[in-house]
Amino acid sequence: MAYLSSFLVLLFCGAATAADVFAHFMVSNTYSYSRTEWKADIVAAQAIGIDGFGAGPDNQDWNVQRIDDAYTVAAAQGFKLMYSFDMSYTPASCTYPWNTTFMATMISKYASSPAAYIWNGDVVVSSYAGEGYGNSFFADLKNVMTKQGVNISLAPALTSYTGTAQNQDPNAVASDMFRNYTSIDGFLNWQTWPLDTYTNLTADVDVDFQAALGNAGRTGPYIMGVSPWQFKDFNDGYYNSWVEYSDVLFPNRWDQAIKTVQPDIVEIITWNDFGESHYIRDLPALTGPTSLQLGVTGNYVYGQDHSAWRVMAQYYISWYKTGVTEDRVVFWYRIHPKRVPCASGTNNIGVVRNAAYPTDAVFAWALVTKDSTISMTVGSNRDWTFQAGACGPVLNMVPFPAGIDNAYPVVTIERNDKTLQTGNGSVAITQACSYEDYNPVVGLAGPPIQASARMGNGSGEKGRLQKPKYQKNF
Ligand SMILES: *[C@@H]1O[C@H](CO)[C@@H](O)[C@H](O)[C@H]1NC(C)=O
Ligand SMILES: *[C@@H]1O[C@H](CO)[C@@H](O)[C@H](O)[C@H]1NC(C)=O
Ligand SMILES: *[C@@H]1O[C@H](CO)[C@@H](O)[C@H](O)[C@H]1NC(C)=O
Ligand SMILES: *[C@@H]1O[C@H](CO)[C@@H](O)[C@H](O)[C@H]1NC(C)=O
Ligand SMILES: *[C@@H]1O[C@H](CO)[C@@H](O)[C@H](O)[C@H]1NC(C)=O
Ligand SMILES: *[C@@H]1O[C@H](CO)[C@@H](O)[C@H](O)[C@H]1NC(C)=O
Repeated sequence: MAYLSSFLVLLFCGAATAADVFAHFMVSNTYSYSRTEWKADIVAAQAIGIDGFGAGPDNQDWNVQRIDDAYTVAAAQGFKLMYSFDMSYTPASCTYPWNTTFMATMISKYASSPAAYIWNGDVVVSSYAGEGYGNSFFADLKNVMTKQGVNISLAPALTSYTGTAQNQDPNAVASDMFRNYTSIDGFLNWQTWPLDTYTNLTADVDVDFQAALGNAGRTGPYIMGVSPWQFKDFNDGYYNSWVEYSDVLFPNRWDQAIKTVQPDIVEIITWNDFGESHYIRDLPALTGPTSLQLGVTGNYVYGQDHSAWRVMAQYYISWYKTGVTEDRVVFWYRIHPKRVPCASGTNNIGVVRNAAYPTDAVFAWALVTKDSTISMTVGSNRDWTFQAGACGPVLNMVPFPAGIDNAYPVVTIERNDKTLQTGNGSVAITQACSYEDYNPVVGLAGPPIQASARMGNGSGEKGRLQKPKYQKNF
C-alpha cells in the first residue's frame, strides 16, 4: 500500500459565473445521419449541460442537408447551433474554395430559427481557420449579410495566431491580429493544446486575446477552447503523427476557464473528432448510420471509450453550481507504456512526434459527496490511496510499474471501511502494441451519466472517413 499526497486539488466551493457551453461538432462525420441520430447526439449533449454545437459545413454538398436536419432537431429540442465554417477545407482543385455568397445563404437560411445562437442581437458565426482569406473576405461577408438584413458577430478561430502566441508575446500577437482583422468581432481560441512542448498549457494566450478583444473595442464573444487530449497517427510519418502533452489538460483547462479566464463561451474541442482523439461523444457504432470509415485511425479509436469525460464536463458545466450528488472517479490511461515497439502505425517508419511527453500512469479525478479514500491498483502497484472530500474534485495518478503487462487498472471509492464503487479499466495495459496508440481509455467508478444515449444502431450506409482538423506547418 502506498499513500499518495495531493497532486492537484481543484476546489470549487465558491460561486461560479455562468457561461454558455458549446461543443465543436464535426459535420463531416454525419454522412449517414438522419434526424434520429442528430437527436441522440443533442440529447446526450444536453444531458451534461451543453447549450449548443459549433457546427458548419466543410463545403461538401451533403453537409448542407445534414445542417438542415440539425437545425430542425435543435429547434425542437431547445438546443443552439453556431455556424463554424471549416475554412481549412481545401479540395485538390482549388486553394480557397469558400465564397461569401454560399456562406451568406447558409447563414440567412436559419438566422431566425430558434436554434440560431444570438449574441448582442447578432447571429454568431465562427470558423476553423480562414486567415488565408484575409480581412477583406470577412468584411465582405458582413456586408453581404447586412444587405440581407442579418447582422452577424464574427468570432473565427484564426489558429495560426494562437499557435504563434504560445511561443511569442501573446499580447503583441493578439493586438496585431485585431489591428489587421478590423472586421472580426469576437474570437475562438482553438489552440487548446500545448504546441510541441512538454509544459502544461496555461491560460496566458486566452487572457491576452480576451483583453485585446476588449481593447480593440470589439463586442463579440470571447470563446475559450477546452479540450481533453490530442493524438493522431495516420501511419504516414512524422507530419501526420503527434501527441501533445495532455495528461491533465482537461481538468486544468476547465479550472482556468472558471477561475482565470471566465470567457463568454466555453467550447469543448471536440464532441466527435475521433482521428485527433479529442472526442467526448460515445464511440461510433460498428454498423449503421453513426458508423464511420475511420481507416487507420480506427486502430486507436475503437475500444478507446472517452464517454466518462462527459462526467467531468458535466461537473464543470453545472454541478459545481448545484452541488455534488454522486460518488465518482473518472480515470484515464494509455494502454501501452510509451516507446514499446508497435506492430504497425508510425513506429514502423518513424516515431510519433512528442512521444516522450505523456506520463506512463493512470490518472484519476475524484468527485465525492463525503470524505472518502480512493484506492487504485495498476499492475503490481496495488492499493495506492489518496483522499477526496466534498469540496470539489481531486486529481491524482499511479505510475505504471516497470514491465506492466496485461493489467486492468482498478479504482475504488471507500468510506467507513466499505467499498462503495469499483471501476475496472475496459482495456488492459500491455507490452504488446498492435498499433501506435497514444489515445487514452477513459473509465468510471460510480454511476454513469444519465441519458448516456445509445447513439444509433441498425443498418445504414457507412459514414465517411473524416479529415484532420488540427494541422501544423513546419
Ligand atoms: C460558392 O461555393 C459553393 C459551395 O461550395 C459552390 O457551389 C459555388 O459554385 C461557389 N460559387 C462561386 C461563385 O464560386
Ligand atoms: C443591424 O444593425 C444595424 C446597425 O446597428 C441596425 O440598425 C439594424 O436594425 C440591425 N438589424 C437587425 C435585423 O438587427
Ligand atoms: C499585419 O499586417 C502587417 C502589414 O500588412 C503585417 O506586416 C503583419 O505581419 C500583420 N500581422 C498579423 C498578425 O497579421
Ligand atoms: C503538469 O501539471 C501537473 C499537475 O499540477 C504536474 O504534476 C506536472 O508535473 C505538470 N507537468 C509539467 C510538464 O510541468
Ligand atoms: C476487469 O476486467 C477484465 C476484463 O473484463 C477482467 O478480466 C478482470 O478480471 C476484471 N478485474 C476486476 C478486478 O474486476
Ligand atoms: C436498435 O435501435 C432500435 C430502435 O431504434 C431498437 O429497437 C433495437 O433494440 C436496437 N438494437 C440494438 C442491438 O441495440
